[in-house]
Amino acid sequence: MKALILIALVFCAVPAAAQRRVIPPSDIKSGFEFLGPDLKKLQQDDFANPGTLWVDRGEKLWRAAAGGDGKSCADCHGDARTSMKGVAVSYPKIDERTGKLMSLEARILQSRVERQKAPPLARESEDLLALSAYITSLSRGLPMEANIDGPARRNFELGEAFFFRRRGQLNLACMHCHDANWGRTLFEERISQGHPNAWPAYRLDWQTMGSLERRLRACLSGVRAEILPYGSPEYTDLALYLSWRARGLPIESPGVRR
Ligand code: HEC
Ligand code: HEC
Repeated sequence: MKALILIALVFCAVPAAAQRRVIPPSDIKSGFEFLGPDLKKLQQDDFANPGTLWVDRGEKLWRAAAGGDGKSCADCHGDARTSMKGVAVSYPKIDERTGKLMSLEARILQSRVERQKAPPLARESEDLLALSAYITSLSRGLPMEANIDGPARRNFELGEAFFFRRRGQLNLACMHCHDANWGRTLFEERISQGHPNAWPAYRLDWQTMGSLERRLRACLSGVRAEILPYGSPEYTDLALYLSWRARGLPIESPGVRR
């Protein structure tokens, strides 16, 4: 309780004029910059980075037969190192067939169920995280570049509105922490700018890998706001806004976080 009052006090100090302050492009910094030296080292060393376990598992799953026709992802898509290279940079993305905005996880599930004819994987299951970590890792070092034109525009606007809307018992918006207070310390953790480029990431606090959605749910729970179910369109819209906001930052997944 004391801690909550403390944050409320800290964030009451945000002046009204800062309500819609956005970070200028020259100040955009990856969450990596806000890590201590130990976590930086852990993320950068593929042998020590615990996320590598999921990436390796994803690589095996890519080649494993599943579903009615006994096909693997590789049977249709070939070598992921070529077919999936650079794919993650533009997610969430509009699926032309359905016209819906989809996260990479949703797209993997769609392909698995409709194309591979295999049973769906649960959200946050080891296998789904492994596949999305593997595919995302194949874009490591490439800049994020969300497309917000055409049919994605509406999703983008909804995501942007979500980012700036106050919510929860603490009555804080995403912007209060990640636009207006980045660099400050909250519960021994430095608040970053809230970019999605390291996700899926391994979080020490969870002792496991998690998706961007799981991270967003942790932030919503931090302000005591309503937690939406996994796969809710609100999260995908918000993720599109975050990707656009982070455009140009290199993909770092698998990240390591506290
Ligand atoms: C039977 C063939 C088939 C299998 C098996 C298959 N896919 Fe696909 N996948 C497709 C086709 C075709 C598309 C593009 C058309 C569509 O579905 O919208 C696609 C699209 C995708 C995309 C979107 C690519 C992009 O450029 O945005 C991803 C990611 C993907 N598949 C991942 C997987 C994964 C992971 C597996 C294994 C779990 C898998 N697919 C299994 C046929 C397949
Ligand atoms: C009370 C402050 C607070 C609010 C409000 C908040 N977050 Fe966070 N957020 C944090 C902290 C603390 C972390 C963990 C340290 C860090 O990376 O910033 C974090 C982490 C993140 C990350 C991961 C960044 C990385 O590099 O790993 C993303 C993305 C994010 N937040 C997005 C959001 C979004 C979107 C909202 C609004 C729904 C939101 N946050 C609301 C405090 C907050």
